[in-house]
Formats: sequence, structure tokens, C-alpha cells
Amino acid sequence: MSVSIIVPAAGKGSRMNTSAAKQFLTLRGIPVIVHLLKRIDMLDEVSGIIVALHEKELDNFNKIIKNTAVTKRVRTVTGGNTRQESVRAALNLVDAGSELVMVHDAARPLVTPAILRDAIAKTKELGATAAAVPVKDTIKEVEGGVVTKTLDRSRLYAIQTPQTFLYEIITQAHENAVKNGITGTDDAALVEKNAQKVFVISGSYDNIKITTNEDIDLAESILHKQRNLFGYY
Ligand code: CTP
Ligand code: MG
Repeated sequence: MSVSIIVPAAGKGSRMNTSAAKQFLTLRGIPVIVHLLKRIDMLDEVSGIIVALHEKELDNFNKIIKNTAVTKRVRTVTGGNTRQESVRAALNLVDAGSELVMVHDAARPLVTPAILRDAIAKTKELGATAAAVPVKDTIKEVEGGVVTKTLDRSRLYAIQTPQTFLYEIITQAHENAVKNGITGTDDAALVEKNAQKVFVISGSYDNIKITTNEDIDLAESILHKQRNLFGYY
């Protein structure tokens, strides 16, 4: 089974107050996106990685990757104005022979190879999976500062990446989205809207998406906890 991994990395990180986009900030001296590539590089079944980037970052990324030991083939593509468009641009580059396509956000550099391997194994059986964790907080709907609804926490999951799909399932979901003007903040949403089941698999509370400034300290402490696991930092 051959697996292609798409890394959407074309965002601006507008919820952070940093000049560099968050995927290029360094943690322990290593750019966020390189932490992720190092971890993906540990997976035997992955044949190639496609990184979607903002046009302005292509040179910067190529410089970074030149000085980084990654054995897998890494290709780049210009991303779009939304995450969905960035993933679609990368999908066009996936090798014809890829049976599975995994999508993993550049902003989630702390994922473990074990989670990625589990996602590959489960998706072979299930066809479409999304890593997730049960929410810890009670989630309420609020309108105009007033609670309108309290949701049943036992049914709520925070959805992460990796999200992994059989090649036909993700390509058809994106085609259907273009045809019918469907938008979603993740790929699972497009698959759901194309009437396919997405199975939830175990993610991790440590697999955070770096989104706001306080996530940097949190990411550093998770890296510290993982320091003896991977041997590259
Ligand atoms: N992404 C992308 N193309 C876009 C927007 C987002 O490839 N046009 C990527 C981001 O680089 C990130 C992932 O999608 O790796 C998840 O998006 P998010 O966390 O929202 O990142 P940003 O869009 O960069 O941040 P913000 O929403 O705060 O601007
Ligand atoms: Mg965004």
C-alpha cells in the first residue's frame, strides 16, 4: 500500500502575533514544519509528501528543506486562499499509484509516528478516518453573549489531523465540493457532505494545532516530554 501525505502549509497564521507564519517559527531551534517532516519521514509506507505553500514562502521553504535530512520525496505546490483550496491544489499532484492520501496540518508538528501509522492501518479497513479526542470542556452555543444551548459533551469530539482517505474517497469529495459549492474547514467535512462515513480514531491531546501565542509554550513543553522518543532533536 502506498501513501501520499499532503501538508497544507499555505496559511498566514492570522491568530498569532508573529511576523513569520507559524509553520516557520522555530521550536528548539527547528522550524515547526521541519518537526513534522522529520516525523513523517519515519513512516515506511509513505511514498511522497506534497507541501502546499504560499507563493512567497516557496524559496524560503526550499532553502530550509535543502539543509534538512529528509529521505522521502518532498514536492511543493502553491496553495490557495483557503485550506480547502490548498489541499485541492496538492491533490492534483498525488501519484496515480497512491492508494491512501493522508492530510496533516503543518501547524500540528507534535503528532507521533505511532498516530500516523495507526491512521494508515485503520484507513485501509475503514476508508476514511479522522484523528480526534473527546472534548474536555462543556460546549455551549452562544448568541449575542447569551447561552442558547448546552450540547451533550459525551457526543462531542475535537477533530484533529491526520485525516486519511482512500484515494477515490478524497478526490471524489473534493470534486463534489467544487461542483456544488461546498466548503469545509477540514477534509472530513467534504467527505461527510459527499455521503461517506468518516470514522473517528484516536488522536492525542498532545497533537495540538499551534493557533495562538500561548500554544508556543505548550508546544515547547510537549517537545520536552517527547525528547527521548525520536532522536532528531
Ligand atoms: N492552510 C493552508 N492554506 C490556507 C489556509 C490554511 O494551507 N489558505 C493551512 C495552514 O498553514 C495550517 C492548516 O491549514 O497548517 C490549518 O489552518 P489554520 O490553523 O487555520 O492556520 P492559518 O490559516 O495559517 O491560521 P489563521 O486561521 O489563524 O490565519
Ligand atoms: Mg485558518
